[in-house]
Amino acid sequence: MKNSHYILSCLLLLALNPMSIAQKNSKKNIAPINKEVFIQSLISKMSIDEKLGQLTLYTSDMSVTGPVIRDNYKQDIMNGRCGNIFNAYTPAYTRKLQDMAMQSRLRIPLLFGYDVIHGHKTIFPIPLGESCAWDTLLSEKSAKIAALEASADGLHWTYSPMVDIARDPRWGRVAEGSGEDPVLGSAIARAKVKGYQGTDLKSKESILSCVKHFALYGAPVAGRDYNTVDMSMQNMFNVYLPPYKAAIDAGAASVMSSFNEINGVPATANKWLMTDLLRKQWGFKGFVVTDYTSINEMVNHGNVANDYEAGVAALNAGIDMDMQGAVYITHLKSALEKNEVKMADIDAAVYRVLDAKWQLGLFENPYLYCDENRAKQSIMSKENLQTAEEIAIASMVLLKNENNVLPLKAKGNIALIGPFVKNKRDLIGNWSGAGNWTQANNLYDAVVSRTKGDATITYAMGANVTDDTTLIKKMNIQEFIDKRQSTELLKEAIEIASKADVVVMALGESEGMSGEAASRSDIGIPSNQVALLKAIHALGKPIVLLLSNGRPLSLSWENEHINAILETWFLGTQSGPAICKVLFGDANPSGKLTMSFPRSVGQVPIYYAAKNTGRPFDNNQKYTSKYLDIPNTPLYPFGYGLAYTQFEYKNLTLNKNQFKANEGITAQIEVKNIGDKDAFETVQLYVQDLVGSSTRPVKELKKFGKYFIKAGESKTINFTLSTEELKFYNANMDWVLEPGQFKLYMGKNSQEVLEVPFEISGN
Ligand code: BGC
Repeated sequence: MKNSHYILSCLLLLALNPMSIAQKNSKKNIAPINKEVFIQSLISKMSIDEKLGQLTLYTSDMSVTGPVIRDNYKQDIMNGRCGNIFNAYTPAYTRKLQDMAMQSRLRIPLLFGYDVIHGHKTIFPIPLGESCAWDTLLSEKSAKIAALEASADGLHWTYSPMVDIARDPRWGRVAEGSGEDPVLGSAIARAKVKGYQGTDLKSKESILSCVKHFALYGAPVAGRDYNTVDMSMQNMFNVYLPPYKAAIDAGAASVMSSFNEINGVPATANKWLMTDLLRKQWGFKGFVVTDYTSINEMVNHGNVANDYEAGVAALNAGIDMDMQGAVYITHLKSALEKNEVKMADIDAAVYRVLDAKWQLGLFENPYLYCDENRAKQSIMSKENLQTAEEIAIASMVLLKNENNVLPLKAKGNIALIGPFVKNKRDLIGNWSGAGNWTQANNLYDAVVSRTKGDATITYAMGANVTDDTTLIKKMNIQEFIDKRQSTELLKEAIEIASKADVVVMALGESEGMSGEAASRSDIGIPSNQVALLKAIHALGKPIVLLLSNGRPLSLSWENEHINAILETWFLGTQSGPAICKVLFGDANPSGKLTMSFPRSVGQVPIYYAAKNTGRPFDNNQKYTSKYLDIPNTPLYPFGYGLAYTQFEYKNLTLNKNQFKANEGITAQIEVKNIGDKDAFETVQLYVQDLVGSSTRPVKELKKFGKYFIKAGESKTINFTLSTEELKFYNANMDWVLEPGQFKLYMGKNSQEVLEVPFEISGN
């Protein structure tokens, strides 16, 4: 029921009467009030401190006894000098904080934000992993469940989706995004926004999404987090910006500014980005929050001299909310007095923040999301865990399966070796927010219960995740380190492997080796684990390598020597059962890579949609674009992934070969499952514009679809492409369709494709 009718009358009494708007209104039944009238009227009653308070976001903290809030923040909430809190959740705790806000003069409800990145309590695969499902319905489903659980836990707002295109696996935050491609990235961005926000933000089960990090955060020079970004406008508009735009077009309620600079101006002071592009061109109506202290950090960037100037630059650029920096609340009052910022701009920012609170229904009931009973019912329910397992299965990518080592038979002696066999800590991955890793289900337990009575399961840890003591300290993983000598761990592993029929090795990165501030210059499996792998390999037993990691790894040695490799990322709460199902063939792997896996870190950044160059690769010609020591191609290309069956692609045809602008291009192909197991296959369509006024990539993904094809069955797959999808930003930054010759490719990944030419005629 909408109770908004009470609001205007309440407003008049606000200063006098401390009773909450919701309490006052709950029994009345008058006509709904106009949102704009309400918010403008509220703004007209606000002091400058109260206005800046609505533009201020502070963190809550966690102590050993539970969540706590700093005393000065408490005072600020009660004085109306802080309107938004993040890192606070649970109905009881958010209620307590909301009570403080209800003691403020205008009783404007607090907004509670949090990084609900891949699930709230039920943890789904890390976003990079989930993107490998190439399934936007699943992406939407996990966001919907995340919103359901987060909202039941007192939250209103998630700092997700992270849609930064990433082409350099040294950057640890590739784990948080959907990989290297703008078309796939945009589709997932839309699905995520839809999943979080639903169709009605007033529903208790939806939350505000926040598309981040606007913009280009995924392209730091040399893959080093927070580093400078330097990019051509064409690359920006053709490749990096589309997913942010897609999320905004899907209705994302908020945007987070990125830490990096764009064209020499940090995003947080970038008026061209935040006002001209985002608001004027793209029509974004929501609010923009900074990333953590990014206003203050501009002093280090060197585009402003001090916090005061930083605050002025941010507000004037179009930034609405200051995350944790306290710059707005400290400096904008004097900036206003000096006429360096305008009251109209402050009011516009306040309006946008209050609008979000209105849309959530918080003015009607500030405690709408503080329902203990809902939390008990909705969080980690059986259905949520089931969906988490389904998504985990869909996210795995089978990279190699020599002689069909996989799936394993549940018989004989199976040795499980590696630091990720019994591990729970790392399974839920980085940015797992409120997720509790002790509730994650590991591989060991799942395999033991799956094979009970049929196979002998032995176990050895074999190695720690790393022996690098500096890294151990940096990642704070001391308590998960086996204190025995590495030689002792290795000896034990060799002993059990020697008696095994097959060895399953679970190796990889710890969760802290990817994510924020976790760039790596060496992107291999940590060397002590490789030593273990090599020692076991020397025994000559069949080996299945299960990988846990948050980025593409360089796996050249592993690919050459190991029989089967299954990429499992960090799959979340249901990791163990999901991996176990794929391991024993109870489920068929169907994931495909959304980031290219390099042969060596020396190749990065590496991506399929590269340019041809004037001297394309030719192994027999010295002066062509190549390395002396390795091929140009990745080890595993974008779109690649195997299943426990094979698919044959044939008869690629088009409805015709010459098209005019606005005509649909329909491509058709037959895909046959020629193996003996039913499976999903993701069919991909790429286009190459052969001659353009600007150079064009050798291939660009335009369409994809995932199909269930039974053993022996053949399916005809159709995609219709509009000529709009062939447009690009040219050197003058015009969005154009250029007539001429094209090639259309369809196939199982960005390399294994069939091709057919077509032409776009000039009239
Ligand atoms: C990260 C953001 C995150 C924010 C709030 C920052 O350090 O860059 O992605 O949303 O913290 O936790």
